[in-house]
Amino acid sequence: MRLTILGGGGFRVPLVYGALLRDRAEGRVTHVTLHDLDPARLTAIARVLADQADGVTDAPAAPSVSVTTDLDDALRGADFVFSAIRVGGLEGRAADERIALAEGVLGQETVGAGGIAYGLRTVPVAVDIARRVARLAPDAWVINFTNPAGLVTEAMSRHLGERVIGICDSPVGLGRRVARVLGADPARTRLDYVGLNHLGWLRGLYADDAPDHDLLPALFADESALTSFEEGKLFGADWLRSLGSVPNEYLHYYYFNREAVTAYREAKQTRGAFLRDQQARFYDDMADRTSGALAAWDRTRAEREATYMAENREAAGAGERAADDLESGGYEYVALALMRAIARDERTTLILNVRNGATLSVLDEAAVIEVPCLVDATGARPVTPVSPLTGHEAGLVAAVKAVERCVLEAGESGSERAAVKAFALHPLVDSVQVARRLLEGYRSAHPGLGYLRRDTRDTRDIRDTRDARDAQSRG
Ligand code: G6P
Ligand code: MN
Repeated sequence: MRLTILGGGGFRVPLVYGALLRDRAEGRVTHVTLHDLDPARLTAIARVLADQADGVTDAPAAPSVSVTTDLDDALRGADFVFSAIRVGGLEGRAADERIALAEGVLGQETVGAGGIAYGLRTVPVAVDIARRVARLAPDAWVINFTNPAGLVTEAMSRHLGERVIGICDSPVGLGRRVARVLGADPARTRLDYVGLNHLGWLRGLYADDAPDHDLLPALFADESALTSFEEGKLFGADWLRSLGSVPNEYLHYYYFNREAVTAYREAKQTRGAFLRDQQARFYDDMADRTSGALAAWDRTRAEREATYMAENREAAGAGERAADDLESGGYEYVALALMRAIARDERTTLILNVRNGATLSVLDEAAVIEVPCLVDATGARPVTPVSPLTGHEAGLVAAVKAVERCVLEAGESGSERAAVKAFALHPLVDSVQVARRLLEGYRSAHPGLGYLRRDTRDTRDIRDTRDARDAQSRG
């Protein structure tokens, strides 16, 4: 089986390859093609993968690895395509944060103004990839890691239908933490989790041996258990009880927006700027290195994990991350489990980003949502019925989906008006004037937004995806 990874020079590719190396089952991946725009990044990551393969002696032959900068070559013959690109690179992420913070609003890569800016420059590239997959590898399954993952998956689904599935590791991480606190086995629990990517709530948790007994009320009744894990520390027991659910950690940017924005403004560096510098050091170091690639990568990974959401934790007084959370396992676990379920028809349930269908009545059928899905060889479908959303959940989900739709419209038509509307409608952007200035700021920072044009009454400028792609660096 052949797997192609777009953004193949990206830092988290060794996590996926490590999981492939541990996969001993029949029908596993035997060849990996890494695609990236930057050959130096490909060389660096290929070295780490070679070290990983050398370290495994008791396994079947390690998946062979090839690298290419030609997208069409990478796609031809692929059974699975992982898309993990970063349009505009980490420099672009840092600019997304900086420009938003200068306006006093949040600049996170997936939430608020920063997520919109990132979405605006990613959608045309993702659509171009989707079109090429449809043409060159029509039977391939696309697993989308690229953030903002829900929005990008929906953009691609307009061309690939149900053959694109979006993934994120935050719901599985949340479920694992809550299950452990409750003394339940994370592998034998059902999560009542629903929402959009980075905007969901865990409303119930059921052990497989007592499928009708919700364990969450016991958690809410136990103050020390409730504040013993990441989300409990971020949100506090009182607020979790008020909600009656455990929100995804990214909802910290909503519920404690003012504190998060202040912490981000006061930080020595934004997350994007920190990662830009950290990753530049890593890739520079790899260019001269003749040995020790895997150890160097792992040190960098550990530092990245330890500092994840540091400003939010500081604003909440949450302290350091728990040791369990520092070990990776979510990202590659979800990807591999999904691929195995499809390739080998191993029925399983995973929280994924897929089309809504009739699952949530507040959204239309084509809206991509994040929800537990049943996966098998025919693909992934939401497990239904889903218990109804509260008014608050429905309201926020509908509001943010409306923003995503404006981004998709802007990305597909080049409409500047739709782009301004996306910023202005976002619950974390507090004025239309701010929205207009944000777009201007982003436009001057990102050549990849050059496709946005003033709307005229009768004509719409058609964006040229090729220009949009060529203006970007991926990784
Ligand atoms: C979480 C999120 C991902 C994100 C990752 C890395 O796992 O769910 O969407 O890509 O963190 O975040 P970082 O700030 O290290 O890039
Ligand atoms: Mn995510």
